[in-house]
Amino acid sequence: MVQAIRGFKDILPGETERWLALESSARDLFAAYGYAEIRPPILESTEVFSRSIGETTDIVEKEMYTFQDRSNRSVTLRPEGTASVVRACVEHHQFQTLPLKLYYLGPMFRHERPQAGRLRQFHQIGVEAMGVEDAGMDIEVLALLRDLFERFGLRDLELQVSSLGCSICRPAYRERLLGFLRPQISALCPDCQGRLERNPLRTLDCKREACREATQDAPRILDSLCEACRSHFAEVREGLDTLRIPYVVNPRIVRGLDYYMRTAFELVTDCLGAQNAVAAGGRYDGLVKDLGGPDIPGIGFALGMERVLALLKDRQPPAQVSPFFVAALGKVARREALLLIQALRNVGKPVEWDPAGGSLKSQLRKADRLGARQVVILGEEEIKTGRATLRDMAAKTQQSIPLSDLLTTLTTKSASHE
Ligand code: HAM
Repeated sequence: MVQAIRGFKDILPGETERWLALESSARDLFAAYGYAEIRPPILESTEVFSRSIGETTDIVEKEMYTFQDRSNRSVTLRPEGTASVVRACVEHHQFQTLPLKLYYLGPMFRHERPQAGRLRQFHQIGVEAMGVEDAGMDIEVLALLRDLFERFGLRDLELQVSSLGCSICRPAYRERLLGFLRPQISALCPDCQGRLERNPLRTLDCKREACREATQDAPRILDSLCEACRSHFAEVREGLDTLRIPYVVNPRIVRGLDYYMRTAFELVTDCLGAQNAVAAGGRYDGLVKDLGGPDIPGIGFALGMERVLALLKDRQPPAQVSPFFVAALGKVARREALLLIQALRNVGKPVEWDPAGGSLKSQLRKADRLGARQVVILGEEEIKTGRATLRDMAAKTQQSIPLSDLLTTLTTKSASHE
């Protein structure tokens, strides 16, 4: 037997209903916030990601599915959505009317070590809002994030926010941090030692106990912000207070993607073990320009659908509408049945039948297995008298209905009887 690749999961019937429910409640809210959907391709030129996420990040260094295609071009299965969305907007000159507010959903690919809550193909729902530098945009995006999780019925998550500074204040902070970390390099884990000079901020984010201890008294980026970044962050916090969005400031937020600046945030839970971020995002004011577009700021977030669904796993799945079942016996009755089935499906009523035919008993058994509550029985007798039998499976009662009234009777049946 050939099996699915490790870290790649089949999403089977029974689960897909939950996925659809999540997607459609997100789509409804995005419409209310004025976000339009964008669907970039899953495969991109590798440089889309190496130029944006950053050459020294874990994602680009070790996690991308990169290969040469048949024309010897280096291509990559997208590890995230932001870079693709920005590439598409630059390529198709989407910046005429600002802010440009977009959302996307679909699979992303990262070659990480699979474990609970961490997959190699996972799915994100994400938003990107481009064109506004003002903190008002950050506040709207964070309000959208809060409302989205309210809709999902997930309220006890913690929103952590910070500011990562900008190209003016971050380099100086980086030097201060390096000055603090260099003397204790031997106390750091091998990963952090290896990348200390290239990416010292990642040490703050390291989950290893040794690095946590070594960085306990490290200088905080929030104490090194320039005036513009400081007042931007203060405005974001004020907006969150005004909208009564609870949050904590976590100055250790680093994010594993280099394009971020200023506002960075994560929505975390303690119910998913080590993989505690359910959603995350931030501001990326230089990214559009870096990918060849105009100098336009942006901010967004993405949530991991598998992680949201894991948090929702004990909830009732969306109610299934039980189908009608049409049981037909004999050639003429089958013809009549096909027409009825077609007419019901055309008006959106779910209906099942047994294409293989068989005895009435076996067809009723099948109807029962499919959860049908109403079964239309069409046999030779019914065709002769011009009346169908309608059987209520739960009450075990039957009524006779003229064939000419059948469609109207069935389509006006209330949902609770369906
Ligand atoms: P990210 O933090 O890399 O950000 O991913 C966002 C979310 O995707 C995570 O919080 C997590 O829920 C989910 N996720 C990430 N990796 C995995 C995995 N291996 N398995 C399961 N779920 C995973 C971004 O991707 C940014 N593009 C977000 C963004 C949008 N920033 C601005 N706009």
